[in-house]
Amino acid sequence: MPARLIDGTAIGDRLRAELQAEIRALRERGITPGLAAVLVGDNPASATYVRMKGKACEDAGLYHETIRLPRDTSETELLALVDRLNADPKIHGILVQLPLPTQIHTQRVLQRVAPCKDVDGFHPENVGKVFVGDPTGFRPATPYGVQQLLVRSDIDTTGRHAVIVGRSTVVGRPMAALLLQDGPGGNATVTVCHSRTRDIKSVTRQADILIVAMGKPEFVTGDMIKPGAAVIDVGTNRVQDPTTKTGYRLVGDVKFAEAQQVAGAITPVPGGVGPMTITMLLCNTVQAARQCRTA
Ligand code: GUN
Repeated sequence: MPARLIDGTAIGDRLRAELQAEIRALRERGITPGLAAVLVGDNPASATYVRMKGKACEDAGLYHETIRLPRDTSETELLALVDRLNADPKIHGILVQLPLPTQIHTQRVLQRVAPCKDVDGFHPENVGKVFVGDPTGFRPATPYGVQQLLVRSDIDTTGRHAVIVGRSTVVGRPMAALLLQDGPGGNATVTVCHSRTRDIKSVTRQADILIVAMGKPEFVTGDMIKPGAAVIDVGTNRVQDPTTKTGYRLVGDVKFAEAQQVAGAITPVPGGVGPMTITMLLCNTVQAARQCRTA
């Protein structure tokens, strides 16, 4: 029997509907949560993400600004913009879309974002808070979305072996921290695999829950999955396809057709993790507005 599909679009829609109550309550206190997204350069995937984030804010009734800067923007100019947004009372959340052009030191920029506005959860203060389980910390949107997918699909994590493939600071590492926490969507036994892991298949085959975030199209094949496992595919890779209007199509890091025959539950690409990432960014922006000291 093919695996049950985990529908990120439907779960994301439900979460956004729930969030409306909190947005209304903040509005009654005269607060409209506001998000600023900063895009440097013209990376097409980044431009698409930023556009989708802006639209999601509009649909949810949040204030938002998108600031687009040319590819040759200097680090000093970008830091000055971050300072301005840090001081802007209409803005509760700031997101600097990654990757940044090479002339800009990414960590210096991420550390300049005020921790109370860091809705990406990339500032070391929030990284630390998430690691120790402090709920005032901002959880990075993608792993937070994966955790919500698991919880809301009734996939119990307690005592189960979760294997994460990929150790990025955006997904793999914070994912491990969330799965280790003591609470819903946590209490797992966690293993993180990466490019230097030996015999990766022998590790992925032990996973009750397999989370793949390595950015390699269709890397995980059916024989790497334990029968009945829950498979969460974080990858979104453009592969050339001349039969489509755009000339490309999206595939995940998992070979879906094979994996679906082995797994117990699986996320599709698109329509799995992607919609959840944007939803969790909205949740974080609302959290920032709620926690904001000047509010
Ligand atoms: N680039 C890829 N994923 C992300 C993300 O979650 N946040 C930001 N700011 N940039 C990204």
